[in-house]
Amino acid sequence: MTSDLTENAARAHFETLYEYRPTGVWSAPGRVNLIGEHTDYNEGFVLPFAINRRTFAAVSLRQDNICRVASSFEPTVHQIELDAISRDAVGDWAAYPFGVAWALQQATAGNFTGFDIFIDSDVPVGAGLSSSAAIECAVAVALNELWSLGLDRRALARVGQHAENAIVGAPTGIMDQSASLLGETDHGVFLDCRDLAAQVVELGFAKEGLELLIIDTKVAHRHADGGYASRRAACELGAAALGVGSLRELTAQDLPRAAELLDATTFARVRHVVTENQRVLDTVETLRTLGPRFIGELMHASHVSMRDDFEISVDELDTAVETALKHGAIGARMTGGGFGGAAIALTPVAKISEVTLAVLAEFEALHYTKPDIFVVSAAPGATREE
Ligand code: GLA
Repeated sequence: MTSDLTENAARAHFETLYEYRPTGVWSAPGRVNLIGEHTDYNEGFVLPFAINRRTFAAVSLRQDNICRVASSFEPTVHQIELDAISRDAVGDWAAYPFGVAWALQQATAGNFTGFDIFIDSDVPVGAGLSSSAAIECAVAVALNELWSLGLDRRALARVGQHAENAIVGAPTGIMDQSASLLGETDHGVFLDCRDLAAQVVELGFAKEGLELLIIDTKVAHRHADGGYASRRAACELGAAALGVGSLRELTAQDLPRAAELLDATTFARVRHVVTENQRVLDTVETLRTLGPRFIGELMHASHVSMRDDFEISVDELDTAVETALKHGAIGARMTGGGFGGAAIALTPVAKISEVTLAVLAEFEALHYTKPDIFVVSAAPGATREE
């Protein structure tokens, strides 16, 4: 689902600011991860979906090599020359679009020129819904087309990840960009992060009278900070100690040996990844055979594993999950990289208001910041709007 308002807003803002008409408007969605957390950079499995919150990029190429980006989030027009883009030269949110322009040039040969971009978005920032991947993917599909590069969606996902790793400085995996590029209405993207083989899996929430609630705790997270990187490092340490290229190669049968060889913390990190990979496979199988009403226990087991073994939850996320479950959600878990952001709660339509009111009341009683609670549905991936 796209929003005409935002698409038109991006175009109108572009015209007001740059005083000419953009060549086109491209859009890409945020994502929510149904299950499979911190498995992507371990070459494992994930099951995210693109959501009906989108970023719109109005874009034109220029004759010279000046690159300008502006947005409705803040008044600055960020400007740089195309060949000057580097990690030190760009900062703030502009690192995402400029990083993509840089990564596209690294990925392929082309006749690259500067550009003007205006970005508008209704993907909440800092909620763990990948507002950053939405920017990257909207800009990636736009420049891929305007620079006539012909990269396919998997290559564009790699471009977004490269931008984020090398220019933004966040050591994130490939999940967010893949979901934003490959999503489909009412379907999850079941992705094997080793080779980016993707299958869409019907979610069937609406048919079963279910909605997916987002509970944005408003606890800010940033993956360029230390927590995410240290979890990734622990996984790499564990894989090396166990003699495998990635944790993807392990199954539950390897855990007793891992427990003997690894220190307790590294073992707990490894156990999360190994069991989470299996939960993704089980969730896909359950969705295909029994339907979404039967995935609740897997979701909760995923949350417990992130809370206790991977230690990336925070009190607000735990409260959101447990309160939602107590008041009628079928399954709930924190989603995204952790250390803040959002929880998801798969909830029967008839229970939405009870769950919402209960979470609001519990947060108030505990003097937490008021959360933002809303429903999302699975929407199509990045596209050209006009
Ligand atoms: C962030 C990263 C993803 C992934 C998740 C955790 O969203 O961008 O690559 O690692 O955290 O599953």
